[in-house]
Amino acid sequence: MRPVVELREVWKIYHLDGVSVEALKGVNVQVAKGEFIAVLGPSGSGKSTLLHIMGLLDRPTKGEVLLEGKNVANMSDSALSSLRNSYIGFVFQTFNLLPHLTALENVALPLLIKGVPKEEREKRAQEMLEKVGLGERLLHKPSELSGGQRQRVAIARALINNPKLILADEPTGNLDSKTGAEILELFSSLHEEGATIVIITHDDYVANKSERIIRIKDGVIL
Ligand SMILES: Nc1ncnc2c1ncn2[C@@H]1O[C@H](COP(=O)(O)OP(=O)(O)OP(=O)(O)O)[C@@H](O)[C@H]1O
Ligand SMILES: [Mg+2]
Repeated sequence: MRPVVELREVWKIYHLDGVSVEALKGVNVQVAKGEFIAVLGPSGSGKSTLLHIMGLLDRPTKGEVLLEGKNVANMSDSALSSLRNSYIGFVFQTFNLLPHLTALENVALPLLIKGVPKEEREKRAQEMLEKVGLGERLLHKPSELSGGQRQRVAIARALINNPKLILADEPTGNLDSKTGAEILELFSSLHEEGATIVIITHDDYVANKSERIIRIKDGVIL
């Protein structure tokens, strides 16, 4: 079967102030449908870079990215955004919530982009926030929430469209162990329902729940 997402000889070279950083050096990865993968590696090894490229948030410097067998190189940025919005749920390491929107509005945003009517949007966003244990914080803005609560809003937003592919960058990194375990349960049940999941983690507990571990060091998969 065709992989959900495939990276072929992917390089990512960042240029900053005349210095270039080779964050990924010829990476090959295939993610099969329904897999639950943990990505492990030291800080700065290229994990977030890898996930961003898999999530079509960034383009490789060299190499190919195929989503369900389709090379995305020739797709426009707007085509990529709409594909991302409907197909991929991305949980950012730094949350990326919009500061002026409430938790409910942040979670409902992918539905707004898709053109879902207000009433349904709010109903679904509320249900998703309840699922992550934030039913009592619907109208709070990110600055009025704790780090763990922001993390959960970010997770709810990533899951609101029932994405086939869930990419999460240390989703339990800011959570206490109980909330972390609950979030992991949520990922596990989505996995059982058929979602494909790739999680970056430093946590052995999370890694042990996965079916496959990808180890990365200095931009190379070991
Ligand atoms: N936008 C950027 N511009 C320049 N260099 C960058 C940029 N983003 C990342 N890098 C560099 O690329 C390398 C890989 O970064 P990346 O964020 O992928 O690491 P990581 O494995 O996710 O680390 P961590 O566990 O700390 O989150 C690092 O050396 C980093 O400094
Ligand atoms: Mg990172």
